[in-house]
Amino acid sequence: MADVLVIHGPNLNLLGTREPDVYGSEDLASINARLAALAAAAGRSLDSFQSNSESDLIERVHLARTEQTQAIIINPAGLTHTSVSLRDAIAGVDIPFVEVHLSNVYAREPFRHLSFFSDLAIGVISGFGSAGYDYALQFLLNRNH
Ligand code: DQA
Repeated sequence: MADVLVIHGPNLNLLGTREPDVYGSEDLASINARLAALAAAAGRSLDSFQSNSESDLIERVHLARTEQTQAIIINPAGLTHTSVSLRDAIAGVDIPFVEVHLSNVYAREPFRHLSFFSDLAIGVISGFGSAGYDYALQFLLNRNH
């Protein structure tokens, strides 16, 4: 029953140790704790969810509608570039969302330039490391005032 839900896709559980030159040295627990504190300071609640399973991610998006979640921040990770099904889930629940990537996907391999989410998102933040999640949350907290 959170106001904001943060969804992290496959392999983001490895943050902190996974290619730190690309994704930074902060781990997922630290990012999630900071976002929850930022939301709480604004009087909002925030939940976070990570899975390596496409189907669990889809189920969590569906649950967000049942819970009347107001906004989603999602880093679909590798599924950004492949998943029609996760795209359909987020389109289906009709919850406004911001797409976040730690790395600048446009400065990387061409297959990372395509996103199945960006045209549905309020906006996309890419290349600011873990601070990108803070920027997305700040935007959503201001927007819902
Ligand atoms: C990522 C970029 C994706 O291309 C990659 O597959 C990831 C992480 C990012 O946050 O920069 O797993 O979404």
